[in-house]
Amino acid sequence: MYRPSLRSKKEIILSSDGTRTLYSKEFDEAYHSTKDGALHESLQKHVIPALSFKRSQTDLTILDICFGLGYNTFATLYYVKKNNLKTKLHILSPEFDEELIASLADFDYPPEFETIQEIIKKLSRNLYYEDDQFKIEILLGDAREKIPLIQERIDIVYQDAFSPRKNPLLWTQEYFADIATISHEDMLLTSYSTASSTRLGLYENGFSLFVHRGEGVRYSTIASKRMLEGLEYIDMELKKERNPTGRSLRDCDFLNQEQYSSGFR
Ligand SMILES: C[S@@+](CC[C@H](N)C(=O)[O-])C[C@H]1O[C@@H](n2cnc3c(N)ncnc32)[C@H](O)[C@@H]1O
Repeated sequence: MYRPSLRSKKEIILSSDGTRTLYSKEFDEAYHSTKDGALHESLQKHVIPALSFKRSQTDLTILDICFGLGYNTFATLYYVKKNNLKTKLHILSPEFDEELIASLADFDYPPEFETIQEIIKKLSRNLYYEDDQFKIEILLGDAREKIPLIQERIDIVYQDAFSPRKNPLLWTQEYFADIATISHEDMLLTSYSTASSTRLGLYENGFSLFVHRGEGVRYSTIASKRMLEGLEYIDMELKKERNPTGRSLRDCDFLNQEQYSSGFR
């Protein structure tokens, strides 16, 4: 059984669907919505919409931001196996918390992940897993440094970092520009964030924005450079007219001059 060490500044908490997640004292935030449920949120806000829109593709490369407890990655494997999909998946996921990854083999995951226990163990130990259908790589380090180094072209992004208020550098206009650079033109990004600053950051990088209403969860955001059937389109020009002072988050607001000039860009 996983018990967070004193050093790790985390607590295990129970979410509404009975699945366990963590509360980070460092970021003063839970890893998942306790109201929506950790596994339920992952399936409804990320996995199901993304894989449904991409169902015609036989190979998918997914960027999971950031790995954390790995719910999004593991829920993807669970969903693919459960529905007997033959899609080949390559999942890349930055994460800087090495201690957390090393502890995942002992975390109390839901029964839905029982069939992938071996994958969880190997990933926790090696940061890497590969078989005929799945290739998973945890990129140990800062996401802002790791993302521009990615050589693969991304089909799906699960944008599931701590909130824009608590972890702004993973939500800036420049961050989304890096994501767009390593992605296919028809990449689809899923996020729980409905903040106007998040949507503006994506819009300023050429993405259209849509409202996604998953079952039993609060509404969320999907971004794509293509029109998506069946989702509510967000007219960002109208939003800008109605809220002329609204703006995207920018790197320069959160980095000092030295970090900014020697940093990510
Ligand atoms: C909200 S949790 C991710 C939850 C995860 N998607 C899951 O399903 O468990 C955010 C994660 O981002 C990691 N993190 C925060 N800032 C980071 C950064 N700049 N680079 C890499 N990892 C980061 C934290 O250590 C934490 O594990």
